[in-house]
Amino acid sequence: PKRVRVHHLREAKEAGRRLTMLTAYDAVTARIFDEAGVDMLLVGDSIGNTMHGHTTTLPVTVDDMIPAARAVAGAARRAFVVVDLPFGSYESGPQQALETAVRVMKTTGADAVKFEGGKRSAAQIRAVTAAGIPVVGHLGYTPQSENLLGGPRVQGRGDTAAEALSEDALAVAEAGAVAVVLEMVPAPVSARITEIVAIPTIGIGAGAECDGQVLVWVDMAGMGDWSPRFAKRFGEVGAALRAAATAYVDEVRDGTFPDAEHSFLQ
Ligand code: KIV
Ligand code: NA
Repeated sequence: PKRVRVHHLREAKEAGRRLTMLTAYDAVTARIFDEAGVDMLLVGDSIGNTMHGHTTTLPVTVDDMIPAARAVAGAARRAFVVVDLPFGSYESGPQQALETAVRVMKTTGADAVKFEGGKRSAAQIRAVTAAGIPVVGHLGYTPQSENLLGGPRVQGRGDTAAEALSEDALAVAEAGAVAVVLEMVPAPVSARITEIVAIPTIGIGAGAECDGQVLVWVDMAGMGDWSPRFAKRFGEVGAALRAAATAYVDEVRDGTFPDAEHSFLQ
C-alpha cells in the first residue's frame, strides 16, 4: 500500500474523503491499525493515561514518547505517523519547540509532530514548519491545560468562545499546520471551522462535520470499563482479552495446557 504523505491530507479534504486516525503506542497495535486502513496513527501523550498509569498527560516526557514513536513508525507501512510533543517540551518558545521536534524526527522515523494551542503556539508552529517538519495543531479541550480549563469540558460554547476558537484555528492554519485536531467542541462550531480553514480538521467529540475523526484506541476498542461519552466502543476487546487470560489460567491449573499439540514430545 502506498504511504499516506502530507499532501494526501489536504487532497482528502478537497475530495471530501473522511480521514481516519487512531492513537497507537506500540508496534503490535500500530501494525493492526495500519492493516485496517487507518490513515493516520497518533502517538499521543495520552500514553500517560492509557499505558503509563498516570491520571493526566502532564508527567509524560519526550523520553517516554520516543520509544513509542519509534515502535509505531517502524510498524506502519501506510499510515501517516504523528507524534505528540508532551507538556513542557515546546511552550517556552520557537527554539524549544524546534529542538524537541528535531529530536523526535531524528530518532523515530515519524512523519509529523503535534502540539496543543492556537495563537499561543503559532510562533512554534511556524518555526517547526520552517525547518521542514509538518505540524498538526490541537484546539478545543487541550488536556495539557486541564488545570486551567477545569478538567475535560466542552470548549467553544457561546458566541464569544466560538469566535475565539475560530481565530485560533485560523492562526494554526496560517502558521503552516497541515491539519488540526478539534477536541470536545460543539458540532456546529467545528462545522464552521472546517468550512473556514483550508487544512483538514480531525475531530474527537467534535461532531460529524470535521474532515476526519480520531479516537484513543483503548476507548475505541473497549479496553477499559469506562469510555468518554464521545468515544463509541467499537469492540469489547478488554473483555475478550480477560476471557483469554482466564482460560489460560484455568487450563494451566487443571493441566489441560500444554497438551501434546503444544509440546515437543521428543
Ligand atoms: O494524546 C492523544 O491521544 C490526543 C488525541 C486525543 C487527539 O491528543
Ligand atoms: Na495529546
